[in-house]
Amino acid sequence: MNGKQRSRLLWAAWVVAFALAVSAAWVIWSGEEEAAQTTAALPPKGYIALTFDDGPWPKTTEALLDGLAQRGVKATFFLVGEQVADHPDTVKRMEDEGHQIGLHTWHHVPLKGMTREEICAQLNKTRQTLQALVGPEDFMLRPPYGFVDETLEHWAQAPIICWSVDTEDWKSKNVDAIVQVVTQQAGDGDIILMHDIFETSVTAALTCVDRLLEEGYYLVTVEDLFALRGESPQAGQVYSSLPEEP
Ligand code: NI
Repeated sequence: MNGKQRSRLLWAAWVVAFALAVSAAWVIWSGEEEAAQTTAALPPKGYIALTFDDGPWPKTTEALLDGLAQRGVKATFFLVGEQVADHPDTVKRMEDEGHQIGLHTWHHVPLKGMTREEICAQLNKTRQTLQALVGPEDFMLRPPYGFVDETLEHWAQAPIICWSVDTEDWKSKNVDAIVQVVTQQAGDGDIILMHDIFETSVTAALTCVDRLLEEGYYLVTVEDLFALRGESPQAGQVYSSLPEEP
């Protein structure tokens, strides 16, 4: 190898080394950029609470719990006392998997127009049955049909949680119609009403979860929504949504 060949070889080595350095820098830089985009996507578009009334039911509620677990999403279930007595294992599963449990009366009856004694009988029996399963907790109340009067506000002994988005899932029993209501109406601070009685509601609920997550919303329990807003729920007060204070 003469001097000329040697300097060519040296030059080639430099070129290869430079190319390697540039590509390594590119890999590191593009990786960082990707990470930066992920971080930039972190602030959520808003928080939404999905709520399910009238359960628990062995088939549909379990299917819903499976789907929520796969997606890592927590929801709120307002339970009917006599259903709780029939399906205690489903209630324990809800509790174990981090969902919020609330009251929806013992016999699914409208509380509006009832006396103090009648209200307390409906709520206390449900409360005690739930406490025997999941321990001494306070439960929020979803009044059947959203009917509230002054006597109920006075004797509920629980925050009264209504809703801001009504999917009317029990009426349409149509997956597309339910998903359309949610995607068109739901936004930050909304409380969405659904029922885990019907297979169509379960399919629609999980489709809604996927859509809302894609849009950048976080799905939380009603309790968590209060905490995120820095608000403590008051017994006897009616809430239908928890938007961020301007
Ligand atoms: Ni109901």
